[in-house]
Amino acid sequence: MEYQNLVIEENEGVLLLTISREKALNALNGRTIDELTHFFGTDAPSRESIQGIIITGAGDRSFVAGADIKEFLALGQQGGGALAKKGQDCFFLIERFSKPVIAAVNGFALGGGCELAMACHMRVAGEYAKFGQPEVNLGIIPGYGGTQRLVQLVGKGKAIELMTTGDMIKADEAHRLGLVNHVVPAGEEVNKAKEIMAKIRTKAPVAISNVLYCVNKYFEHKGNDAYTYEYEMFHKTTLTADFQEGATAFVEKRAPNFTGK
Ligand code: COA
Repeated sequence: MEYQNLVIEENEGVLLLTISREKALNALNGRTIDELTHFFGTDAPSRESIQGIIITGAGDRSFVAGADIKEFLALGQQGGGALAKKGQDCFFLIERFSKPVIAAVNGFALGGGCELAMACHMRVAGEYAKFGQPEVNLGIIPGYGGTQRLVQLVGKGKAIELMTTGDMIKADEAHRLGLVNHVVPAGEEVNKAKEIMAKIRTKAPVAISNVLYCVNKYFEHKGNDAYTYEYEMFHKTTLTADFQEGATAFVEKRAPNFTGK
């Protein structure tokens, strides 16, 4: 597959993957999800030289500002559940990748961007990075695993607060909550992720893969059914008038007028 929205550089066993749609703040459109799925499902597993992957966003403003809201308006009656399922499946490939994956969060990590960062094994944030699950502003819910992984990382109460208020939090607050592993000066995110990778690369590769496998199993043993509820509920919200209103209001750069319908 030829990548249009991913830039891939490999150096000494560490692969830097940059999501590159800078004009849309690196929002994840369908094409980018397809590319990520191909990369983590087919391309990366066949590259034996890779010992770890760092994901970042192009430019200095945004990691990923969410799913591409402009594509939402074309979803129709059937598209919502399929969209969320496709995003979930893609992010499972990242979470279950056998080598460490670190998100180097260099700006906005909102909606699907926060969910992408959470699907990675660790997160390093620049000091000005901002995190949030603002889907309720659009009349929908997180659909790429956020309702599950945010609870895993920050606990039930704070996760519910973040997902129901849509509040954006700064890097230091995200660090305090356990959402990110490290906060570093702006521009140093990838270097810090490389520093962590350099340490990991001195350890036994099979042992590293087995740690990742077992930690994932801890959550999978509790059951993955709720991910199914998430994409079904995401689908239901995409059938509401409020979702049409929320996405339209974003595109028209105005506040939404929700009616509960
Ligand atoms: N989907 C599609 N386009 C997006 C986007 C998204 N999730 N986030 C940002 N963009 C686009 C904007 O539409 C704008 O494009 P335009 O210049 O063609 O109008 C461009 O990126 C820059 O964004 P803008 O909103 O002008 O920047 P800002 O600095 O004023 O605000 C944000 C930045 C991140 C706060 C704001 O863009 C935002 O709220 N984005 C949506 C976040 C979100 O709800 N994500 C979850 C989606 S489920």
